[in-house]
Amino acid sequence: MKSKYQKIKGTFDILPPETEVWQHIESTVHNICQQFSFEEIRTPAIESVDLFKRNIGDETDVSKEMFVWEDQSGKEISLKPEMTAPVVRAYIESGFFRKHPLCKLYYIDSFFRREKPQKGRQRQFNQFGVEAFGTKNSEQDAEIILIAKQILKQLNINNTNLGINNIGDSDTRSQYESKLRTYFNDHKNHLSELSQLRLEKNPMRILDSKEKEDQTIIENAPLIRDLLSRQEKEHFNSVLKHLDGLGIDYNENPYLVRGLDYYNGTTFEITTQSASSQNALCGGGRYDSLVKKMGGPETPAVGFAAGIERIILESKQELSEKNIDIYISCNNEKYASKGFNIIHNLIENGYKIFFDTNKKNIKNQIKDAVKNNAKFIITIDETISIKNLSSKKEKNISENEILTFLKTQ
Ligand code: HAM
Repeated sequence: MKSKYQKIKGTFDILPPETEVWQHIESTVHNICQQFSFEEIRTPAIESVDLFKRNIGDETDVSKEMFVWEDQSGKEISLKPEMTAPVVRAYIESGFFRKHPLCKLYYIDSFFRREKPQKGRQRQFNQFGVEAFGTKNSEQDAEIILIAKQILKQLNINNTNLGINNIGDSDTRSQYESKLRTYFNDHKNHLSELSQLRLEKNPMRILDSKEKEDQTIIENAPLIRDLLSRQEKEHFNSVLKHLDGLGIDYNENPYLVRGLDYYNGTTFEITTQSASSQNALCGGGRYDSLVKKMGGPETPAVGFAAGIERIILESKQELSEKNIDIYISCNNEKYASKGFNIIHNLIENGYKIFFDTNKKNIKNQIKDAVKNNAKFIITIDETISIKNLSSKKEKNISENEILTFLKTQ
């Protein structure tokens, strides 16, 4: 049978039992972030278009791919394509920065980008991420990388590469941009079409290009590290030293510039070893000027976000069985209130039950209970019986004996 309605292109339903995988990832993120005393932040799904255009950059792919519309009052609204700008907005708007000069936040949320859908690239996708405000110190860069690695490790994703770079401050970057522009202009005719388009407005993005014809030109391009100030070099080296101390492997990648305008200093990405162009699991870096630019006090910051769908594609997690403790059969409405009392009591005492509200006949209910790994089936009628589904032993029981009986099993 064909449904009258289909989901919107680039979006997906997540159905059981796959939802279990999501719950597992989400609880891992909550646990690990909270172990590091990062606190959860939630922000609205919609924001003003301006928030993103001005702060992630008008010319970035992310900005161009936003879902945008005008509301009834003529205000331009967008579904959020990423979380850093909304978190900074909330951090300033709520006055949180006053109470929490060193502030460590995390999130799990859905984001929307009108990209060309393909494996690992969706129009609605989910990220978890962290943002730490209030310090320039290299320990903060290292701590968030450790969190990312720790979450991936707990999810059994070990075959990854951590690429890391330092892209300097805005002065270093504008010097570098003009150097790159000159260099790429000299090779313009051999660059891919996309890179030729990027040449004028954002030559650094050419370094990110995956196009074959660009690769040798990129390999010989000038490197930003030759323009870094002494302070920036020292910061970068001490981040690397912390990673060495933590035993976290990395590759210095002088071409890792990231696609959003707010970055400065440290940038990093965790990728899988697959050759796919959607191999970035996680990306982040410093954005020391964003809070000030958005109207807050001078507040350095660093963060990352990871794509949950891409993590799921990488993880080989087995789906667990349903594992019900007690299957409830109560097929006669006359005894429903007795049934509900028993259910209520079992739930209050921590048991996982499945109530067959469909009221199949008992033979089918037993089959169903076995299929779902239930340990017991309780049949509620004029009398009550309980059957151990592995030993097949069954006995009649009174309502107030049930808990004691279960505890002795
Ligand atoms: P981003 O690199 O745009 O960074 O996204 C982070 C991760 O989200 C990517 O590495 C990827 O795993 C996932 N992702 C992005 N777009 C899609 C998509 N269309 N479909 C599936 N997964 C996707 C940011 O969003 C920054 N806000 C990260 C950050 C936080 N930087 C500092 N703090």
